[in-house]
Amino acid sequence: MSNGLLEGKKGIIFGALNEQSIAWKVAEQAHAQGAKFTLTNAPIAMRMGELNKLAEDTGSEIIPADATNLEDLQNLFEKSMEVLGGKIDFVLHSIGMSVNVRKGKHYTDENYDWTLKGLDVSALSFHKVLQTAYKMDAINDWGSVVALSYIAAQRVFPDYNDMADNKSYLESIARSFGYHYGVKANVRVNTISQSPTMTTAGSGVKGFNEFINYSEKMSPLGNASALDCANYCVTLFSDLTKYVTMQNLYHDGGFSNTGVSQEVIEKFAE
Ligand SMILES: NC(=O)c1ccc[n+]([C@@H]2O[C@H](COP(=O)([O-])OP(=O)(O)OC[C@H]3O[C@@H](n4cnc5c(N)ncnc54)[C@H](O)[C@@H]3O)[C@@H](O)[C@H]2O)c1
Repeated sequence: MSNGLLEGKKGIIFGALNEQSIAWKVAEQAHAQGAKFTLTNAPIAMRMGELNKLAEDTGSEIIPADATNLEDLQNLFEKSMEVLGGKIDFVLHSIGMSVNVRKGKHYTDENYDWTLKGLDVSALSFHKVLQTAYKMDAINDWGSVVALSYIAAQRVFPDYNDMADNKSYLESIARSFGYHYGVKANVRVNTISQSPTMTTAGSGVKGFNEFINYSEKMSPLGNASALDCANYCVTLFSDLTKYVTMQNLYHDGGFSNTGVSQEVIEKFAE
């Protein structure tokens, strides 16, 4: 359903890898709501070629950028403003990766080179995106920047490993940079804390299938889908949420405020 909520808005969408990606759904929904945007991902992810289909479907240009590389980011903002014909109104940061998780390295036995790599990709890249845009004055007044987080930033989920620390850092950047960008140009910066979702990044976490089922039973509304997350992103990019900034916003069907659900209790009565 389109309400033209993003009519006339220009954006940059990071992190669409395949049709399961949350960023992929955001691109589709933003397009349906009238936005124009560029799509970007790490050059290595581009080799799979799936992004071309999304670019065709949404009439978008693809501009490769490693989100940890400042030159790539500057080039991305420059080219995006050129292609879209002006400053940017919204940015989606939908990027996450932990080498320790990927290689099955336990949290109590981290390889710190890998830890630093994951921190750079998953959290510091958000600061780099914001700082690049800030210095280039690339985002319009009342623009909106959103990154995706997970509740492991607040509570322990053992197998989420060092990604929990990365998400805490990410959420802190949204607060701190949100202050400075708000003062400078009324740009708002938020994170959305999303339910577990079956994507490439998500399913890399050990025991993910069991966990997603648990979360489904612990959430009064059930797990929020990638599509619903995309719709929430659209509202945050729109002018209807202009005074929401520096927040971590739970989009999780009520999971974060549920101590225990009847369904989970009943499992223990068996
Ligand atoms: N899937 C879940 O359960 C879940 C839950 C809450 C939050 N999130 C977050 O949502 C975001 C999107 O993940 P997803 O679940 O859609 O998975 P995904 O694997 O589809 O997306 C992750 C993206 O990060 C990109 N990426 C990795 N390194 C990069 C780099 N150096 N530069 C630029 N891009 C890079 C990947 O190419 C990929 O497109 C992540 O921040 C993730 O942590 C996911």
